[in-house]
Amino acid sequence: MNIAVILAGGIGSRLGYEFPKQFFKVAGKSVIEHTIDVFENNQLIDEIAVVVHAAYTSTVETMVLNNGWKKVRKILKGGVERYESSLAAISAYEDDLNHNLIFHDAVRPMLSQHILNSVVAALEKYNAVDVAVPSTDTIIKVDESGELIESVPNRKYLMRGQTPQAFKLHTIKKAYEIALQDPEFSSSDDCGTVVKYLPNEKVFVVAGEEANMKLTYKEDTYLLDKLFQLRSANLHTKVDYHLLKGKVIVIFGGSSGIGQKMAEIAQEYGAQVFSFSRKCSQTDIADKNSVKEALQKVYNITQRIDYVVNTAAILKKEPLMNMKQSTIEQMIRTNYDGMVNVAIESYPYLKESKGQLLLYTSSSYTRGRAFYSIYSSTKAAAVNFTQALAQEWEPAEIKVNVINPERTKTPMRVMNFGNEPDSTLLSSEEVAEVSLQTLLSDFTGQVIDIKLRKTNS
Ligand code: CTP
Repeated sequence: MNIAVILAGGIGSRLGYEFPKQFFKVAGKSVIEHTIDVFENNQLIDEIAVVVHAAYTSTVETMVLNNGWKKVRKILKGGVERYESSLAAISAYEDDLNHNLIFHDAVRPMLSQHILNSVVAALEKYNAVDVAVPSTDTIIKVDESGELIESVPNRKYLMRGQTPQAFKLHTIKKAYEIALQDPEFSSSDDCGTVVKYLPNEKVFVVAGEEANMKLTYKEDTYLLDKLFQLRSANLHTKVDYHLLKGKVIVIFGGSSGIGQKMAEIAQEYGAQVFSFSRKCSQTDIADKNSVKEALQKVYNITQRIDYVVNTAAILKKEPLMNMKQSTIEQMIRTNYDGMVNVAIESYPYLKESKGQLLLYTSSSYTRGRAFYSIYSSTKAAAVNFTQALAQEWEPAEIKVNVINPERTKTPMRVMNFGNEPDSTLLSSEEVAEVSLQTLLSDFTGQVIDIKLRKTNS
């Protein structure tokens, strides 16, 4: 069995919160919940054990229930030192020495499935596996005073260790048995114990990632927050559009561009699509009643609404100080208030159908740009809003996602930027296709990036 051991027995003294850092909340969940999700969602992992300070056992038990995790089978009591927490897991599983134990710091929530798969795969050939990244900084060795350089080792051979660290149970158990006999034994990491006490054992190094950072200091909390914000899902597998058959889709802003293309494709596959826009149906999303009426009208006909899509937005590219007050207000009312109105009015229908709300952002959301101040800040809000609602509406089983297309050839773009070469723009079809794939996916709370395909550029 591949058993993941989530080490969460520390108290996070360096971060200095009144609770251990693994319970710090980022992107709507605690750090440890993000970490456990990675293992719960990995097909190679059979079972998860969480090692935690005794005072937090019930916190983790509640988390297991709330998250509906199926693989968490043991909650073990940690020790004062990290290696004692590792030992708690080793003892808990020593009935079968052929188990693989994959130790991971609870405070590294950005672990990718790619690293985890590579670590588990490497265990087929090696009894011990580490994860590390090249050291970009020069590492200096200081003397005992801690103030003077003793040597500067060649950076080429220096790497910074991360986790997971994975072992055949018989190997790590043996290493600790020998280590604990040593009166000089001082706690290093688990791979360090193998290297020191089983010198003939080869420890394989899997390439880590910078994003697989460990939450340690206050600065890391900001970085982690940004990394979560920027992490975006990419749809790798094409879903079967026939699954759209019989679905009811409401599109706000569906009279042109992406919304119009979505309607065309979805109808081709048998979905019932209802488009609303200011132009064609006098539906103004800035007016809550207008949204309410539109949805009610659809429901009266179909008795269900599976997906609500809001592509409606206004972009006026101008320096803020030149912008008319009425233009500013119109943009905020459509792009922000409109989005909120659509969400609120859609809720009862999506709750009934366990459906999805799909919103749109722009690549300018990560960093505001000159002359787009209002537009890009409303689009940053769309991402934040999606993340918040996805979590808030999870109990109602409503999914909420946001599409982040690169420059797309839409009438709105042409109006603001004139005619640009097609090879530098995504087509409305491409964005519409990914949007429909998202509706059919299990994603929630995701920013789905759509980038220009290489063949286009
Ligand atoms: N850990 C553990 N048991 C311990 C100490 C640490 O399971 N006795 C876990 C931590 O919870 C963390 C990981 O090992 O997930 C990495 O340790 P570290 O970053 O040093 O965490 P803390 O010991 O909590 O932090 P600090 O050193 O700042 O107190």
